[in-house]
Amino acid sequence: MYFGVDYHPEHWVYPYAGTPEDPESRWLRDAELMVAAGVNVVRMGEFAWGLYEPEEGKYDFEWMGRAMDVMGRHNIQVVLGTPTAAPPLWLTKKHPEILPLDERGLRQHEGTRHAYCLNNDTFWEYSKRIVTALAKALGSHSQLIAWQIDNGIGGHTTEFSFNVETRRDWHAWLKAKYETIQRLNDCMGTRFWSQTVTDWDQIPMPMIAPTAHNPSLVMDWMRFSSDTIVAFVKMQVDLLHELTPNARVTTNLRALSRHFDHFDVAAVLDFVSLDSYATIKSKSSENAMDIDMMRSLKKTDIKTPDGEEGFWVIEQKAGQVHWQEVNSLVRPGVVRLFTYQLISRGVTGVLYFFWRQPRIGSEKFYGGVLTHDGRGDNRVYREISQIGEEIKLLGPVLQGTKVVAETCILISHENAWTHKLPFQQNKFFKLRDHILLFYSALHDRNIPVDFVRPSEDLSKYKLVIAPSLHILGGGEADLLKLYVQNGGTLVSTCNTSLVDEHHIAPDTGFPGNLTDLFGLEVLEFDPQPPGEENHLTFKGAFPTSHLHPAKLWCDVIEPKECQALATYAKDFYAGRAAMTMNTFGLGKAIYIGTMSHQPFYYDLVVWLRQLCNLFPLLKVPDTVEVSMRQKDESKIYFLLNHQNSPVRIQFYKPMHDFLTGNTFQGNYDLPPHGVLVLDEQAVKT
Ligand code: GLA
Repeated sequence: MYFGVDYHPEHWVYPYAGTPEDPESRWLRDAELMVAAGVNVVRMGEFAWGLYEPEEGKYDFEWMGRAMDVMGRHNIQVVLGTPTAAPPLWLTKKHPEILPLDERGLRQHEGTRHAYCLNNDTFWEYSKRIVTALAKALGSHSQLIAWQIDNGIGGHTTEFSFNVETRRDWHAWLKAKYETIQRLNDCMGTRFWSQTVTDWDQIPMPMIAPTAHNPSLVMDWMRFSSDTIVAFVKMQVDLLHELTPNARVTTNLRALSRHFDHFDVAAVLDFVSLDSYATIKSKSSENAMDIDMMRSLKKTDIKTPDGEEGFWVIEQKAGQVHWQEVNSLVRPGVVRLFTYQLISRGVTGVLYFFWRQPRIGSEKFYGGVLTHDGRGDNRVYREISQIGEEIKLLGPVLQGTKVVAETCILISHENAWTHKLPFQQNKFFKLRDHILLFYSALHDRNIPVDFVRPSEDLSKYKLVIAPSLHILGGGEADLLKLYVQNGGTLVSTCNTSLVDEHHIAPDTGFPGNLTDLFGLEVLEFDPQPPGEENHLTFKGAFPTSHLHPAKLWCDVIEPKECQALATYAKDFYAGRAAMTMNTFGLGKAIYIGTMSHQPFYYDLVVWLRQLCNLFPLLKVPDTVEVSMRQKDESKIYFLLNHQNSPVRIQFYKPMHDFLTGNTFQGNYDLPPHGVLVLDEQAVKT
């Protein structure tokens, strides 16, 4: 298993380290400290363009070659970043048209990073040149195992630019999609507010305007901007595959927080990498959800450097961040806990950001493995070294193991974008919160979950949950029907299929194209202000532990063939169905026309578990997170205590812990932030 750090050798030369006589001498000490901590891989060079090419066409890759040699002498492999995230100042001085224009048409200036328009041909040209020169200079170095494209692409809200070249590409993209102006006008509904166009040139970019742009146009703009990012990444991937066929290619993504389609980017990469900010989140299920989303971006055709079918965390924060209002220290044991949370959910490479707190630049008080003094006797270094030791033990045990889920949650970026458009039915109704309610209920009951796009094959899942799929194409609706027809169980909710892929509302009833699947029609929907609630009255076998509210959104449902499982308790729709189930073909289609509080979703999971024959991984107290990686018959369980206090677990059979070598039976107190990695084989003996 790969275990390492993000290293910036360019920060650690004289006058910041080393000596005038031997300016790079610190690199050796760093490599020694890395080896002592169990490091076997570093990522380097993601912002080094200005040092690689200090003047146009004058390259200097030798210093990085020397840094790689130092790593080589210590048996440390290298991932090199392509440096396009930080174009050098001479380039933007010479070609200011590279700089992006924002939605007001104002230029974003040079002097930091990501100041580029990805539709600009000149920027593409220079990017190709530096990537080619880099790959030719260092691509055959013995230590190189992978490339990271750019860095944090789309970061600092640079997913969009409004340059002349962007307009040109936007029009070409629309032309390729719609072919005729007539079709564009029809699909976009441009006769609303007199937006009809007679020529491609007339189609606006959604720049600052008196009020909201046509949602159909905005959705295309999001798709176009996303395609631009994918094309830029792919351009670099293709170049690197051609020049260095043995090196794998990745890029560092954040869990679906940026405005481009992460699934599409993942499709052009060999493997996915994640920047993890676990240290700043409070709910363990929220972290787990981010990790599961990232694992789910690429389900097939995964090519990691060591052949594992996993994904990497290429920036696991080693300590506090520096951009919150208060950047508290990450408590002892918590970086270790989060590292195991990542590994337990399928990560096969862990790199910490960053090796040492830099003495220069704007991130100097960000947490690091080493502190500024670089001595290697600090708390975090010791914690990372402990993990390094443990990884040496675990690597062989985990080899070839994967996370397997029988439940999935449907998500799509398109849907997330529609939820962010202005003029929502209820601005307090948040898609991520809705997804998290379902996810947390499954997570807290230790049921593994994948995230899947509605266009993917669903047949391997026993249970599919589809929260608020506001936008749903006709083809996607057909796939949902096919899944249920063949015996699957689907749970959908309010705010589903209110518009099609062109953002046009159906005239055949809600949810569009799915009224037969659910055996009902949603006649009206009644968004509720925060603090106001209706209530659910349950019928039949649905187990309820609490009085469950109906909040934020209440569908007024006309049941047809479906059976009502719950009704509303009050208002003019009192007694009408709020939750239903319909048999469709061999499967079941469940519809929840409202949003409730977390305990409702716990009850729902208890009921669905029986309905779908799903089993929790292990029976432990709710506060212990359990995940599993498996290979054939071998099952490795991870138990994580996210609490500040010990949790008592009862083992009914002897369990073998790989980290300590101990076998547990009966009561065991898992310490605060404690981790167990247990083998099921031992359970059987
Ligand atoms: C991202 C970037 C890093 C660093 C961190 C700070 O993860 O990739 O270069 O700036 O953010 O949060």
